[in-house]
Amino acid sequence: MNISYLRVSVTDKCNLKCFYCRPDNSEFVPHDEILRYEEIARLVKAMTKYGLRKVRITGGEPLVRPQLEELVKMLKDIPQINDISLTTNAITLSKHAEKLRKAGLDRLNISIDSLKPELFYQITKGRLEDVLEGIRVSKELGYDPIKVNAVIVKGLNEDEALDFVEFGKEYGVEVRFIEMMPIGGEQIQWSEDKVQPLKEIKDKIEKKYGKLIPAISVGSGAARVYKIPKLGTKIGFITPISNPFCDGCSKLRLTAEGHIKLCLRTDDELDAKEVVRYGTDEELDRFIKKVLIEKDISNQKIMRSGYAFSDCRRIMTSIGG
Ligand code: 5AD
Repeated sequence: MNISYLRVSVTDKCNLKCFYCRPDNSEFVPHDEILRYEEIARLVKAMTKYGLRKVRITGGEPLVRPQLEELVKMLKDIPQINDISLTTNAITLSKHAEKLRKAGLDRLNISIDSLKPELFYQITKGRLEDVLEGIRVSKELGYDPIKVNAVIVKGLNEDEALDFVEFGKEYGVEVRFIEMMPIGGEQIQWSEDKVQPLKEIKDKIEKKYGKLIPAISVGSGAARVYKIPKLGTKIGFITPISNPFCDGCSKLRLTAEGHIKLCLRTDDELDAKEVVRYGTDEELDRFIKKVLIEKDISNQKIMRSGYAFSDCRRIMTSIGG
């Protein structure tokens, strides 16, 4: 079993408050419990031996952690790593995009759940215009592709699907719709009737723009990506609820306090902090081998359970998507 992709959460803090992600009263991991950039880079380097090539930096909101470009540089210096991306809410991106680009950041995923400033504020408690400015600045700096993630919640923003398609064309970004997932236990107000099956959105798009053509996209991961021939743009659907797939998943997540999370659908984790902080190279290598074995077991368990979200009390802000 190989690991090709690691998502690294650098902080569990966030400057937004999206209701489906973070409860109001969430507590943050104390500062000295958070992995240092050197520790993250050490773990990444050690994992390249087992196939790691792609790293995504995420949060909370990763841009709230100071000097993020230092981490990007450290990752860039690892020859086997050929793709470094960032998931951000882009609220402060226009300030940070240039130094991150210079440090070697390749790609950006930006979260936008509504194109209406008022609803955007209602969902996130942030300003849509700041995000749009972040996208414009990043386009000019040559980030490519830029992907925009929209969590579609029934009764809230599902009527904006076609507007998102037009937005993708106008801004030159690849929009990906995501079904809301039950992550964060009772603290998150998830219910089945908030899940908008994305097949209906796809049908609506096809009705207006004609048949979608299956396509591939750089680092598309869990998304099913299509081309809209009429517009020359791409669109993606992430359907963890209505149409899950995880065969061949070789993705791991590292939480800010240094736990390796095997899958979004369970709380199964292995604590990497001690070994990455104090262990020898041999101990670290042994730990990673154990992670690979556990990941395999976890994949099989999840497929047997019919892709259930069985035990997901850890909140999304400490995982980062
Ligand atoms: N369901 C689906 N997507 C979520 N995200 C955060 N919480 C959830 C959830 N409960 C998304 C964010 C962001 C990405 C990192 O994860 O909107 O796009």
